[in-house]
Amino acid sequence: MRRLVGVDTSCDDTGVGIVDAGDGSVLANVVLHQHETHGPFGGVVPERASREHLDRIDDAFARALQESGSTLGDLVGVAATRGPGLVGALLVGLSWAKGLAFARGLPFAAVHHLDGHVASAAVDGIGRALCLIASGGHTLLLIREADGAARPLGASRDDAAGEAFDKVARALGLPFPGGPALARLAQEGDPDAFPFTPPLRGQSGYDFSFSGLKTAVATLLERDPEAPAADVAASFERTVVRSLVGTIARAARDFGLDTVIVAGGVAANVRLREALGTSGLRVVLPPPRLATDNGAMIAMAARARLTGPEPASDLEVDAAPYLPWAARSEATT
Ligand SMILES: Nc1ncnc2c1ncn2[C@@H]1O[C@H](COP(=O)(O)OP(=O)(O)OP(=O)(O)O)[C@@H](O)[C@H]1O
Ligand SMILES: [Mg+2]
Repeated sequence: MRRLVGVDTSCDDTGVGIVDAGDGSVLANVVLHQHETHGPFGGVVPERASREHLDRIDDAFARALQESGSTLGDLVGVAATRGPGLVGALLVGLSWAKGLAFARGLPFAAVHHLDGHVASAAVDGIGRALCLIASGGHTLLLIREADGAARPLGASRDDAAGEAFDKVARALGLPFPGGPALARLAQEGDPDAFPFTPPLRGQSGYDFSFSGLKTAVATLLERDPEAPAADVAASFERTVVRSLVGTIARAARDFGLDTVIVAGGVAANVRLREALGTSGLRVVLPPPRLATDNGAMIAMAARARLTGPEPASDLEVDAAPYLPWAARSEATT
């Protein structure tokens, strides 16, 4: 058996996944959340996140081996996220993975976290497509070529889509992490109750903006503290979904593309998935459990580089907390 291990500790989830080196299928995907640790603070406390990664990464790896029925001897390559993310958190997973690769004499690939998100949708063989990455830290629209090269079309000018979900959830008094909680509450609400102004209405480009919408929700709650939370959540969610899908559909028309890949934590959102389903586009999505941060997607992103004729050897590559998409070098894709 030939298997790859992927590690992601970019934020507050300790992710260790094992995929088949031949076809990239996911054999184990262990994600240890730290919600109880950060919940009382309403957001991630970086130092605590690093310490928990350190405490739990061995356990996550042991579980992944067990879940996938693998032994150490089955591993033929190791990959880890190098950035972007919290530097202390990144360092734990990256150093741990380098140690494993070095000790076992295996190829090692350092991966850009967003390449992991894209790979989570199993994009091999999909051809030229639009690609939206919508996560806690990024909202990025790209044209992805069949060979994996990508050209940015637009990005959020302020808050990322997931960040807006989290902040509005907090304003509504929902527990951390907010996005999924808000989506659950929205199911019981009326999305027409509060017609928020669509962000960047009438723009000809492909950017996004969610901070004005977030402020609109805050203002509404200030003026009308009795506003039904489920209705506010549903109206907010619909506005975000329309903004994302509207911009995707326009870009698809403008560039003559019929396929869109949507990845990142917000790709787990059911309303977004429904709206994409009726957009007339071919939609490529990760399974919801692979949409949010995990290790398997990092192994998927590195598979070609770990199993090719000249396997990656990135032991010298350092953690990079600030690693814009544009700075993603060929050596670390
Ligand atoms: N069902 C959902 N509906 C809306 N948002 C969601 C849902 N599930 C997760 N999210 C959001 O996705 C984000 C987490 O996704 P992900 O783990 O990809 O982001 P991240 O790792 O924090 O950021 P980045 O990948 O940009 O570094 C959070 O902001 C969360 O609120
Ligand atoms: Mg992420």
